[in-house]
Amino acid sequence: AVVVRHRMRSSGRWAKAAAIVKDLEEKCGTPIGKLRQVADAMAVEMHAGLASEGGSKLKMIISFVDNLPTGDEKGLFYALDLGGTNFRVLRVQLGGKDNRVAKQEFEEVSIPPHLMVGTSDALFDFIADALKKFVDTEGEDSHLSPGRQRELGFTFSFPVKQSSIAAGTLIKWTKGFSIEDAVGQDVVGELTKAMERVGLDMRVAALVNDTIGTLAGGRYDNPDVIAAVILGTGTNAAYVERAHAIPKWHGLLPKSGDMVINMEWGNFRSSHLPLTEFDQAMDVESLNPGEQIFEKVISGMYLGEILRRVLCSMAEEAAFFWTPDMSAMHHDTSSDLKVVGTKLKDILEISNTSLKTRKLIVELCDIICIRGARLSAAGILGILKKLGRDTVREGEKAEIRYSVGRWAHSNDGSGVGAALLAASHSLYLEVDDS
Ligand code: GLC
Repeated sequence: AVVVRHRMRSSGRWAKAAAIVKDLEEKCGTPIGKLRQVADAMAVEMHAGLASEGGSKLKMIISFVDNLPTGDEKGLFYALDLGGTNFRVLRVQLGGKDNRVAKQEFEEVSIPPHLMVGTSDALFDFIADALKKFVDTEGEDSHLSPGRQRELGFTFSFPVKQSSIAAGTLIKWTKGFSIEDAVGQDVVGELTKAMERVGLDMRVAALVNDTIGTLAGGRYDNPDVIAAVILGTGTNAAYVERAHAIPKWHGLLPKSGDMVINMEWGNFRSSHLPLTEFDQAMDVESLNPGEQIFEKVISGMYLGEILRRVLCSMAEEAAFFWTPDMSAMHHDTSSDLKVVGTKLKDILEISNTSLKTRKLIVELCDIICIRGARLSAAGILGILKKLGRDTVREGEKAEIRYSVGRWAHSNDGSGVGAALLAASHSLYLEVDDS
């Protein structure tokens, strides 16, 4: 087969490559009709997930957050944000209505890859250790009232079955994590034990998903915010639901009448999703086959891998890029390896890439990314449908266009949000009542 391929003429290669691009474009297509079907399916699954535990692929997790920040929060709080390849520790001085976030310091630490697939103790020891070092840098100007225990908002961006605002067991890992012995454990318990081991005296006041932290941070900045979406290593959304619309909630109706829901929409799937053979192959070889299908067509952990697979198939099927060069070099029988010499030049040209090749790669990136962007937009429409807020009155359109243009991109929102939620669940409630 290699012989056939390396005899393929350049024009034939480009024609074949163009055909692969066109085919991919068709299979990744997201016309409006399809997006509407996806949005409708999302709204249907939301209902099912709220109706009963296990009623849907959407877990629709009850967060125990029934009040979002108001701006009155006061005091010194810590936050810890774990969920991607890095984790962050934050120290936030909240100054109430007048002073808002008076001071904010943070540090980012990358997680050694072996800890993402090791043991629970090893991961939590590493985190507690970094947190302790950060706490040790607390300055004189940080106002922690004497005799008061430090408190922490813990953002843990994986599916957790919450049993209260500050407790919950890990349902499963997602993204690149796979630590068997942590599944089913209370993650607050695991963190607290590790903090004790490193000699750090701190209480976890709130355990939240990154979507919940982002929602809390968003509401702090703007009282009209009702939902938050994460488009990062993974993807997910949280929104404010009416508590009486949650049949599976058997607790007391909260005073606010609201309950924030962590959808875990990354696990959404539907026959309406435009999936290709590349998606399927990637899924099969992933750490969690059959799971997080919506996440796998949208989020950062996976899009590059899809592109890599498309490029590999081009290299194979269209004898594209390196295959013919390699084959020619391999068969070079000349004493001075002349062919290898010229091919190396070509390969350098490949690593610099010709304009034609670069254009083709940009086109592939567009196809894969636009599919993800449009599907996540359909997911957001699904939430609005579920809330009955998807119809737009005349006159509101201009306003929506304006506010989407100014959409809050809160890179650090989830950390500050967790600190705010720690403040509103503090044992030493000191709110600004002026
Ligand atoms: C994954 C996690 C989810 C998180 C999302 C974004 O989907 O399961 O909890 O919110 O990634 O970080």
